[in-house]
Amino acid sequence: MTAVITGAAGGIGLALAEALHARGEQLLLTDIDDTALAEVAARLGATAVPADVADPGAMAALAERAPEARLVCLNAGILGQSLGAPWEVPAEDWDRVFAVNVAGVVNGLRAFVPRLLAAGEPARVLITASLAGLAVFPGGGAYGPAKHAVTALATHAAMALADTPVRVTMLCPALVATGISAEGVPPSEVAAEALRAMDEGRFTVTPPEWHGAVVRQAGQRVAGEVPGVPGPVLD
Ligand SMILES: NC(=O)c1ccc[n+]([C@@H]2O[C@H](COP(=O)([O-])OP(=O)(O)OC[C@H]3O[C@@H](n4cnc5c(N)ncnc54)[C@H](O)[C@@H]3O)[C@@H](O)[C@H]2O)c1
Repeated sequence: MTAVITGAAGGIGLALAEALHARGEQLLLTDIDDTALAEVAARLGATAVPADVADPGAMAALAERAPEARLVCLNAGILGQSLGAPWEVPAEDWDRVFAVNVAGVVNGLRAFVPRLLAAGEPARVLITASLAGLAVFPGGGAYGPAKHAVTALATHAAMALADTPVRVTMLCPALVATGISAEGVPPSEVAAEALRAMDEGRFTVTPPEWHGAVVRQAGQRVAGEVPGVPGPVLD
């Protein structure tokens, strides 16, 4: 089986590539950073196809390179340049964050899902969303709104594919120590949990101490309150 991973040259995507390589999977890796991607691919014996996930044609070409793919990890994402309130974020930042984080996932689904359905075999799609797509954290600029769109996309895709051999796993991590965050858990931990969730055909919000924050903020909103800043709940 071949696994395709977007944003595979660093962070969570690289950790997914390493974890799947350890399982003996063939890898087709893509990233916009072609130099880092070439190094990773050489180390893991993978095929490297540099691409920008925001480009629908590039994602279609990627899918054509991998007709035997049965696992597709739509993982690439960026933090914007401005992390201010909505009106403080420049228009070009809104455009690029939505182009990569939201359209990147749409382009991946449009390129790969019809092929997976046509193959008629068990297949998996992993979508890296974020805890910031399930609860609102002030100070993230366009990132949180884009990740809310990604959780809606992943959930809709999972619903629409429920009666097919294609299973969708939505991955919603809190902070992970990668290129976009100095703090957080190691990406290898998140990749390991993502693989467990895929094996079990479920979504995952990780680590679990954030589950209560998501539920509490939803409750505050339906109660008509403006939510406070969410925080972890330790049992
Ligand atoms: N780090 C965190 O705290 C955290 C938390 C929740 C979710 N996430 C999500 O995890 C995913 C991976 O991010 P990460 O934390 O590993 O960051 P990262 O910056 O370490 O890795 C992201 C990779 O994606 C690549 N990339 C960026 N734009 C691209 C594009 N247009 N096309 C193709 N590749 C592109 C980068 O070159 C990089 O290699 C993202 O979707 C991110 O939003 C991260």
